[in-house]
Amino acid sequence: METQVLSREEFGGSLPVENVQSLASKNLKDIPSRYIRPEVEFEVVSINESFQIPVIDMRKLGHDDEQTKLHFACKDWGFFQLINHGVEDEVVEKMKTDTQEFFKLPLHEKMACAQVPNNIEGYGQAFVVSEDQKLDWGDMLFLLPLPVPLRNMRFWPTTPTSFRETLDKYSMELEKVTIHLMRLIAKNLGTDSEMFASLFEEGTQGIRMNYYPPCAQASKVIGLAPHSDSTGLTLLIQVNEVEGLQIKKNGKWIPVKPIPGAFIVNIGDVMEIMSNGEYTSIEHRAVVNPDKERLSIAAFHSPNISTKIGPLPDLVKAKATEAKYRTMPHEEFVRLTISSKLDGKGLLDQMKL
Ligand code: OGA
Ligand code: NI
Repeated sequence: METQVLSREEFGGSLPVENVQSLASKNLKDIPSRYIRPEVEFEVVSINESFQIPVIDMRKLGHDDEQTKLHFACKDWGFFQLINHGVEDEVVEKMKTDTQEFFKLPLHEKMACAQVPNNIEGYGQAFVVSEDQKLDWGDMLFLLPLPVPLRNMRFWPTTPTSFRETLDKYSMELEKVTIHLMRLIAKNLGTDSEMFASLFEEGTQGIRMNYYPPCAQASKVIGLAPHSDSTGLTLLIQVNEVEGLQIKKNGKWIPVKPIPGAFIVNIGDVMEIMSNGEYTSIEHRAVVNPDKERLSIAAFHSPNISTKIGPLPDLVKAKATEAKYRTMPHEEFVRLTISSKLDGKGLLDQMKL
């Protein structure tokens, strides 16, 4: 692979707002109005076994039945749980405990990793762009572990002392799983597996550790507002036993019941675009619990920064259809992602031809 001079770009950041964990610890009788969301539809579909996201067994992938199951999971749901993924329990468990330890630190210690203007990494809140916008009931630590040369260690916690090593291992293991999945997804799409997988080698990876404090008025706030992930493929785990992830299916919100040890995988906007709309990125959100804190770790994977983002040409050609989305340099796509957040328009709408 050609070595290229990589540089860290400033893609914009978030306006500083109050730390939600410390706000929650005040046990206020009334939650500040910026967090109250009268518009949120909290009604969820009652869940039964038949209405859960598909479960994919990584050990069985490659065999026809499981491959077909994967295809329909990507196509009809955009979400699935991945079991037997091959990442050792120890690596996942250590990532969970170190994340919990970090959020347990006193605020001033966590602030050593605080976000800075014009940068998306660090400890703070999800993209806040105006002084009057409604806020999410949660804090997060967002880091970009891959590509390795672009790591910005100033945002990587040093307490707990094992944190950096733990995240490094977790990051590498998840990248491996992602590349493996990409090969199998490519097979299903009918594009060259090796070519497609190679786009994710030396790919970009962001890891977001989410902390949602309990909220006495849990049904009036939202932990993470409805969104689709702008990246290629997301692998998410819930850190403790508290549930809160919901996905939108046929216009209704469905709670996800995580299987212990599984990764919750979802298709992001980049994958929707590359598959020329065959797979869709699904809207999801996180709700908060009235009594218990909730934590999750989301790992976002996108192709190498030198990859153009657009429908895969061989797919468009093979299906004798037209490209449904624009093609642009990856960096321009990232910039568009951020500016579409700024003016609240759907990113995919802007990419559609
Ligand atoms: C995310 C996300 C859901 C959750 O971080 O993009 O969708 O359960 N998180 O925390
Ligand atoms: Ni998400």
